[in-house]
Amino acid sequence: MKKIKLKGTEYAVDEKSETPMMQQLVAQGVEIIAACGGAGICQTCAFTAKEGKFTEKTDTEKMMDLPDGQRLSCQCKPLTDGEIELIY
Ligand code: FES
Repeated sequence: MKKIKLKGTEYAVDEKSETPMMQQLVAQGVEIIAACGGAGICQTCAFTAKEGKFTEKTDTEKMMDLPDGQRLSCQCKPLTDGEIELIY
């Protein structure tokens, strides 16, 4: 279990779960816009990492033209404790 800080609150994200970080945060009450429902298409779940390391970019993320430093929370999980900032 890793700790992910968002807007001053820490959330637990299970890095060993099949469930991506976005769905795990939403289940704990975090409001994340997920227009495509986690399919990796809409980019509304994008975040930047202020601290921490995350799993490698998925093929879906690589196909997206994400600005430098942005990741899709529906496509990754944390490798370490960290702090993130949502884009939307
Ligand atoms: S929810 Fe649409 S890209 Fe993540």
